[in-house]
Amino acid sequence: METIKILIVDDEILLRKALEGVLSSQGYVVKSCERGDKALDLVQKEFFDLALIDVRLPDGNGLDLLKEIKKISPETGVIMITAYAEIKSAVQAIKDGAFDYLSKPFQEEELLIAIEKFLKYRSLEKELKTLKTSLSNFLGERALIGESKAIKEITQKIEILSQVDVPILIYGESGTGKELIADLIQKKSPRKDKPYIKINCTAIPENLFEAELFGFEKGAFTGATESKKGKLELANGGTLLLDEIGDLPLSLQPKLLRVLETNTFYPLGSKREVRVDVRYIFCTGKDLKKLVEEGKFRDDLYYRINVVPLKIPPLRERKEDLPHLINYFLNYFSQKYQKDIPKITSEAYTALLSYDYPGNVRELKHILERAILLCQDSKITLRDLPEELQGKFPYDSFISQNIQKCKELLEREVILKTLEECKGKKTEAAKRLGISRKTLWQKLKKFESR
Ligand SMILES: Nc1ncnc2c1ncn2[C@@H]1O[C@H](COP(=O)(O)OP(=O)(O)OP(=O)(O)O)[C@@H](O)[C@H]1O
Ligand SMILES: [Mg+2]
Repeated sequence: METIKILIVDDEILLRKALEGVLSSQGYVVKSCERGDKALDLVQKEFFDLALIDVRLPDGNGLDLLKEIKKISPETGVIMITAYAEIKSAVQAIKDGAFDYLSKPFQEEELLIAIEKFLKYRSLEKELKTLKTSLSNFLGERALIGESKAIKEITQKIEILSQVDVPILIYGESGTGKELIADLIQKKSPRKDKPYIKINCTAIPENLFEAELFGFEKGAFTGATESKKGKLELANGGTLLLDEIGDLPLSLQPKLLRVLETNTFYPLGSKREVRVDVRYIFCTGKDLKKLVEEGKFRDDLYYRINVVPLKIPPLRERKEDLPHLINYFLNYFSQKYQKDIPKITSEAYTALLSYDYPGNVRELKHILERAILLCQDSKITLRDLPEELQGKFPYDSFISQNIQKCKELLEREVILKTLEECKGKKTEAAKRLGISRKTLWQKLKKFESR
């Protein structure tokens, strides 16, 4: 069980001893003193969950002590002990942050109830705080993090483009944040409270695509036992995100083009023309222009959707975003998993900054999530990062070797790597290694002779 520490400040020795006895027998850890100055000393040195303070102290007013304690340790709860006639100071005490007061003489039971009330209150307060954090995380605006030129430009474009109904084409490698940007545009647009429908063109088989997009009437094909609205109609009034548009089957491309141009279509098996008002966002990881050249994407559709292209560079081309993203995700996951925000050793930080992230921001995000879950004592070290980031050093080949031999191997490795760094300039290498040119030369000679 959690130890609860209570401080008693009262100059009546008999009362003090009596209280100490009662509280210790309940399992509380108790310290006591008779003066305000001693109490302040104690509070400065250690944390007390609760202080019981007599309003009248030999060296001053208990109310002043209350204020001082609250300054040093705002988390410490205070219960004031007043004489029967001192209602005014009791009221003042509550105003100054005391949790409760007891007037003398009081029953043992009254005191224990007051303490339990305080502990209950404190645990509820804690719980409320946790709930508030998770609620704000849950509701929390997802933001596009980064200070690079590219991210700043994209952020500006999001502000402007969200306000107009022009189609947008977001282009970038996997994990660069295409969907996040699409979501931000939708959330900032006047259509934010209207439907937001997403279709992943890679995920839907070609033969089901039309039905999915346009919907169908009952009996339109075998298995169509009910009529069903398509994604286009569901998105009416709102926004439609067509993800991985490069994977849209060629056979469907003219059909989509027609919708984009006329805002009308027929559900499968229906004579009912449907008119829609939809804002389109397209995402692609593939270079559509190249697909057009290869004949895999229709050029008329390409021109139609490429009105406003938003290109997101891969993370390795905007490494100045890394510190911001690292910070952001550490905060995010610490909150999510209710852990303290960890420190990162300089080795681990350097590794995080040096890596090229073929999986872009998504990869970084997963690496940090894993590190937060793995790390001990709130410190992320190199060991908590995936192997790709740790940098290979040939320790394995050293195992079970004679120590002298290990030293030689290591020396050889270091000398050759340094020479490489110095582009073969021996004088420079010798200087860096702290040996003479002659020694270096001798050592190199020895390596060659092996
Ligand atoms: N600049 C950024 N700031 C904050 N989070 C980001 C940023 N870029 C990407 N993310 C996060 O990285 C993850 C991957 O992003 P997203 O799903 O938008 O990528 P994508 O480009 O759509 O990838 P894919 O092509 O694989 O679908 C998401 O969790 C997203 O919130
Ligand atoms: Mg995506």
